Amino acid sequence: MASASTTTQTKTGQPDLNPLVGAVTIMRPVAAHDLPVLEAWDEDPEIIALMGRKYADRSTTDWFRSLQGRRTCRAWVIMTHDQRLIGELELAEINWRAGTAELRICIGEKDCWSHGFGTDAIQSALRMAFGHYELRSIYLRVFATNERAVRVYQRLGFRKEAILTPSSRREDPAPVLLMSLTRQRWQVRTAG
Ligand SMILES: CC(C)(COP(=O)(O)OP(=O)(O)OC[C@H]1O[C@@H](n2cnc3c(N)ncnc32)[C@H](O)[C@@H]1OP(=O)(O)O)[C@@H](O)C(=O)NCCC(=O)NCCS
Repeated sequence: MASASTTTQTKTGQPDLNPLVGAVTIMRPVAAHDLPVLEAWDEDPEIIALMGRKYADRSTTDWFRSLQGRRTCRAWVIMTHDQRLIGELELAEINWRAGTAELRICIGEKDCWSHGFGTDAIQSALRMAFGHYELRSIYLRVFATNERAVRVYQRLGFRKEAILTPSSRREDPAPVLLMSLTRQRWQVRTAG
């Protein structure tokens, strides 16, 4: 378990263990030895206020176990090129038939905020999602008050689709924006 990494398969049956290399980040599948760091980020009040609580109902270990062999979620850690672990990114709720998935990202190391790492990691994930996975649309949910995140998503081409009422169960601090990006729009933007 200690050194195991997620050995999830792509829909073509090929393992997707190759790192995703961007201009300033490298992403590789989440491994068991990453979990203490992920858990620490999730317990940080400032990050909870921005993201909501991820592991409210279960431990990181249970979450990691649930990823194994699962076709509907891909989870990567985000590292700098000098191998510093700074965040985590997921394509979750993947519906291969409909071609949709939900993007979730957390740069957990706060001194790395606003240095371009989030933008770069999302670009890598979108290349994977729309390229290799051939998905049609990626959506995400973000607190309307999270201006940095909304700015990044808009700059990458995500559009606001709806405003969702805050969930009292999740103790959401603000309304939630539903945003999405289609492959077609992404292709037009990246071609230009
Ligand atoms: C949101 C997040 C992924 C963005 O990644 P990042 O690496 O910090 O962001 P980048 O450096 O790529 O881009 C930040 C952009 O927001 C802008 N920005 C920074 N602070 C801002 C603020 N308070 N208000 C508005 N814009 C802001 C920056 O100027 C930059 O835009 P620009 O390049 O056009 O100038 C990252 O900060 C993060 O994970 N934060 C904590 C958890 C979180 O909020 N996750 C998202 C939940 S949906």
